[in-house]
Amino acid sequence: MPDTYILGIESSCDETAAAVVRSGEQIISSAVASQIATHRPYGGVVPELASREHLRAITPIVREALQQANRTYENLDAIAVTKGPGLAGSLLVGVSFAKSLAYALDKPLIAVNHLEGHIHAVLLEERQRGNHNIEFPLMTLVVSGGHTHLYLATRRGEGWSYQNVGHTRDDAAGEAFDKVAKLLALGYPGGPIIDKAAKLGNPWAIKFPPAQIKHRNRGDKSPVPERPHFDFSYSGIKTAVLRYVETHDMQAAIDARRQALAANGKPINDQVLALCDQATLDLVASFQRSIVDDLVSKTLAAAREYDIATLFVSGGVAANSELRNTFEQRASQEGIPAFFPSRPLSTDNAAMIAAAAYPKWLAHDFADPELCAEASLPLR
Ligand code: KG4
Ligand code: ZN
Repeated sequence: MPDTYILGIESSCDETAAAVVRSGEQIISSAVASQIATHRPYGGVVPELASREHLRAITPIVREALQQANRTYENLDAIAVTKGPGLAGSLLVGVSFAKSLAYALDKPLIAVNHLEGHIHAVLLEERQRGNHNIEFPLMTLVVSGGHTHLYLATRRGEGWSYQNVGHTRDDAAGEAFDKVAKLLALGYPGGPIIDKAAKLGNPWAIKFPPAQIKHRNRGDKSPVPERPHFDFSYSGIKTAVLRYVETHDMQAAIDARRQALAANGKPINDQVLALCDQATLDLVASFQRSIVDDLVSKTLAAAREYDIATLFVSGGVAANSELRNTFEQRASQEGIPAFFPSRPLSTDNAAMIAAAAYPKWLAHDFADPELCAEASLPLR
């Protein structure tokens, strides 16, 4: 099989990214333009600003990926792009760019689901390490700023198919990290700073009650009983943190930190940590432990229910050190091999998009030239 060079383009949220990947198993280049600085003052992604930044960054980032890879447009085999899910205006920038490129170069266009990209980030790096023996069935937790989804993945010919066996009913786990960080004036994005702060706090200081989730199929009259769903819910814990702040008189300290950080402009993590008292560190550590416990327990319960052979954990929150340690420890106790992407490949990137496109290339599963972005694209 000759080598195949696919250019991946990703613009679903707040990172504009391009990458060249060889035959789904070797990253030749990966360039990411982050919009963190643009969204930081708002403590979250502002969709209109995100589209504008993608428009600015897309051409230079694609050029950078090609330059790093020492490739020209002509010696690419295909153009892959994130079709969805994501922010409509952001997706549109990548999709329009990829469509024009594929048309002008007369190369195949491949549409990729962003969530499938996160799953293939793990596979790509395992292949890069020489591991070609991932066993199926495979359970994968995609946990990021926009998603908390559990999929059962199986092989279908060259491609893959996915069954959703759980998802968040409200906020995604990463969203909870970002909102709690905003509430406590820890900066944006919340995940990395909470990860650091939690190491200095007592994770057992505060006990947050687990989310109560009503089973959606209670009124279901179907004769075949459904297998259980493993849903998540993280909006309650955000409210519980807010209530804790109010009842423990923490607001003045938070306001003081917010002012100090506003004066700083672009504070580094150590400066933020220096502004945190022990009560804040304990709160953050307890919040993180609660989320990690919930993610790990439900994922492993789903793994047992579906008797899976392998576990993947991917998406921005998969960069969290406590989540990784807890998964590694508890999955190994149950005899399930657990795999994570490296940190740069946990958060949004285009190498994962180019890698997920490779099985589609093999299957000649090419997109129509009229390809449209789809903000709520499901993964099947
Ligand atoms: O996958 P990603 O880059 O974008 C989405 O598809 O959403 O994930 C970004 C999310 C943000 O919510 C960020 O706070 C979270 O991932 N994140 C983390 C960590 N690093 C990034 N959450 C917890 N711990 C981390 N170390
Ligand atoms: Zn993502």
